[in-house]
Amino acid sequence: MAFENVLLERDGAVAILTVNRPKVLNALNAPTLDELRRAALELRHDDGVRAVILTGAGEKSFIAGADINELAVQTPTTGREHALHGQHVFDLFENLGKPVIAAINGYALGGGCELAMACTLRMAADTARLGQPEINLGIIPGYAGTQRLARLVGKGKAMELILTGVQIEAAEALRIGLVNRVVPAASLMAEARKLAATLAANAPVAMRYIISAINKGLEMPFAEACIFEATLFGLVASTDDMREGTRAFLEKRKADFKGR
Ligand code: COA
Repeated sequence: MAFENVLLERDGAVAILTVNRPKVLNALNAPTLDELRRAALELRHDDGVRAVILTGAGEKSFIAGADINELAVQTPTTGREHALHGQHVFDLFENLGKPVIAAINGYALGGGCELAMACTLRMAADTARLGQPEINLGIIPGYAGTQRLARLVGKGKAMELILTGVQIEAAEALRIGLVNRVVPAASLMAEARKLAATLAANAPVAMRYIISAINKGLEMPFAEACIFEATLFGLVASTDDMREGTRAFLEKRKADFKGR
């Protein structure tokens, strides 16, 4: 599929999706958001892809937020539709059914921080800066930032970050649980590829169910979420990969998972 604002490459079972508008620090305008939506659908349905890396072009920025030129002219109705559409696109990444690693190579602000939070895991360069600066524009996060940030780092920190609009450094983001790992900027992509390759060798159906159990389960009452988990646990027992994984352990060899 042809894209203008994103790049989609494949390296074996790992796909690398790069937002490619470095002149505007990879700000998300409507066409870019739509290309992200199309790329997410393509990646979701491609069984050859078992893990995804999402990053930004250039050395300075992951994504510096929604495109402020578009925000400046929105109306109440277009603003609401815009937010709902962005939320839908980010949900696709959260529920892609395979792990998506945000490789945060610089600024992850506003919609950039929100998209990183919708990814399964976040790996940041030590030079990265994260934040929700919408308050400085007189607006609020609209791509589920108020919700995902509070769920990731807790209500108190989310209130502080969103109300102040402050940018935090990667080390602070790691300390509060906003990112999973921080690595030297020069080795970010190598480390992200290494993690993606490790994940890509895992059993795909089990990974899909883990992502679903955690994402959906967190929104359910605990007892219902446990029943949901048990049902997925039962379902995964129908896979060849379960037989392969348990047999490989007993035969003291590495499992070869096929995603069936
Ligand atoms: N939307 C549109 N354009 C953006 C943008 C955004 N979110 N973020 C950066 N840009 C553009 C700038 O307007 C500038 O364009 P120009 O060269 O035509 O003037 C270009 O990207 C480079 O940005 P600049 O501000 O010159 O870089 P900097 O290093 O001085 O500052 C930031 C970097 C990230 C601190 C600053 O660009 C910024 O605050 N961006 C907006 C962040 C934001 O509020 N995001 C949330 C939106 S809801």
